[in-house]
Amino acid sequence: MIIAVDGPAASGKGTLARRLATHFDYAYLDTGALYRAVGVHVLSTGSDPADDAAALSAAQQLDMTSLNNAQTRAALRTAEAGIAASLVAAKPQVRACILQAQRDFAHNPPEGKAGAILDGRDIGTIVCPEAAHKLFVTASPQVRAERRFLELRQDDDQLELATVLQDIQDRDARDSQRTIAPMKQAADAHLLDTSDLSIEEALQAALAFIAR
Ligand code: DC
Repeated sequence: MIIAVDGPAASGKGTLARRLATHFDYAYLDTGALYRAVGVHVLSTGSDPADDAAALSAAQQLDMTSLNNAQTRAALRTAEAGIAASLVAAKPQVRACILQAQRDFAHNPPEGKAGAILDGRDIGTIVCPEAAHKLFVTASPQVRAERRFLELRQDDDQLELATVLQDIQDRDARDSQRTIAPMKQAADAHLLDTSDLSIEEALQAALAFIAR
């Protein structure tokens, strides 16, 4: 059983996917973290995430098992990591490098789990087009910026909402307009707009869709 959860930055897809994984006791993979790890690795070597060779080399060295510790996860959540991730994610060689690992996770979930939930941008369209259930989670740019602002503001009290909104709009444009695996709703995906929903309401809406 594979459930694909796609959508733009800060749409609530990660929280929802995690809650669904707990509900069904399925394995969960945050595929954005893979691209973030590649982007952060490039930055740590002093290279530019827009550089093809640096991005490919970082993707080839990616170790998925290293992403589970709390310190690494915190380093991956920064605004810089998100921007670097979006830049490396537009490169076909980087995506090719990461594609098989995502499919392996989906088809052979760890710990013998009976299913897998993957969240990202292209899970329902490219990584697992055969997924049993597909959700495309979205929210208005303003609502997404406010959510991300509240999250990032904890570590940066100089941060401004307008900066976060601009970052989100730039990332939406880059992720949906790139030629390889652009972010888009799969034809058979269910659209879930979380602009006016609490986490619990979004979870109930997703469960109702899956039950249908
Ligand atoms: O979901 P996120 O914000 O953590 O993702 C970070 C970036 O990674 C996002 O801007 C685009 C890229 N990404 C992608 O291209 N494909 C995915 N399946 C997941 C993320």
